[in-house]
Amino acid sequence: MERELSLEFVRVTEAAALASGRFMGRGDKEAADQAAVDAMRSVFDTVNIDGTVVIGEGEMDEAPMLFIGEQVGSGTDPCVDIAVDPLEGTNLVARGLPNALSVVAIANRGCFLHAPDMYMDKIAVGPLARGCINLDDPVAENLGRVAGALKKEVVDVTAIVLDRPRHRHIIDAIRETGARVKMISDGDVAAAIAAAINNTGVDILFGIGGAPEGVIAAAAIKILGGEMQARLAPEDDEDLARIREMNIEDPGKLLLLEDLVKGDDIFFAATGITDGDMLSGVRYRGKTAETHSLVMRGVTGTIRNIYATHTLDKKPRFISDPFGYRDRGSI
Ligand code: FBP
Repeated sequence: MERELSLEFVRVTEAAALASGRFMGRGDKEAADQAAVDAMRSVFDTVNIDGTVVIGEGEMDEAPMLFIGEQVGSGTDPCVDIAVDPLEGTNLVARGLPNALSVVAIANRGCFLHAPDMYMDKIAVGPLARGCINLDDPVAENLGRVAGALKKEVVDVTAIVLDRPRHRHIIDAIRETGARVKMISDGDVAAAIAAAINNTGVDILFGIGGAPEGVIAAAAIKILGGEMQARLAPEDDEDLARIREMNIEDPGKLLLLEDLVKGDDIFFAATGITDGDMLSGVRYRGKTAETHSLVMRGVTGTIRNIYATHTLDKKPRFISDPFGYRDRGSI
């Protein structure tokens, strides 16, 4: 994939963030998500790719747009697979909480694990602690090795975990070691990326979140040079059947980064919707709005922070025109 595509993918997440950010704190997560989906879908068709959504809003019968198998882009080469989460953290936007993002990851055809919509157990770290984690080891052992790699004491390590009853045992085990815990209400893509970036104040992610989110996070972590391991966590026979349908032979297989995302020809783009640890949220300033995005390219490992000012239509728009802005060229 040509390097010029970086900016095209950022335009896609910017559009979703600009549309969705209007709904911050309005208590309507469906509307916030719909706005992000509509905006992302429209801008995708202006991008010169022949894309297939492999991680998206759901199966064709349950999602009208950005469903799994949907073709996006202008239809010209390159032939790519797309993983999207137009709004990662629907509750975060609805409640005006930090770290809601719009994200896309793009890879060559067949390179993403076609993760079904179910849970996935995850562990993730940044480049310094690469080679020090094992999903099957006790929490204390992982923390001890990560502390060693980061040249600090275990009490100085910070783990990030979704605040869910299913993680009680993980949180207890972290606390027993004396390490610090950052419990978050939602958004384990941002959390996994934070664990993989230096100086975010987070060293390791533990716990079960969405499997689609796991694949998207894996794309970012791969480019950042970190490490992630995962295992699908089916809850019932229906989940097991879904795994079989996706041609995943062993549902209990320990998934390494290369199983989640193959190769290095990957792009990852994210735009902040609400303020977060890595990205600022959308700022609306009357006739303009500002966004903060991150775009990364696997082939070179280049990471770019992009601050953009967009020219808006006069009136704030909601569902009827989810963009809320005319793409007359960003300043
Ligand atoms: P949504 O944006 O779909 O609401 O997902 C938010 C999220 O917190 C993800 O980041 C995470 O992977 C998943 O939900 C966790 O699922 P659950 O809320 O069922 O524990």
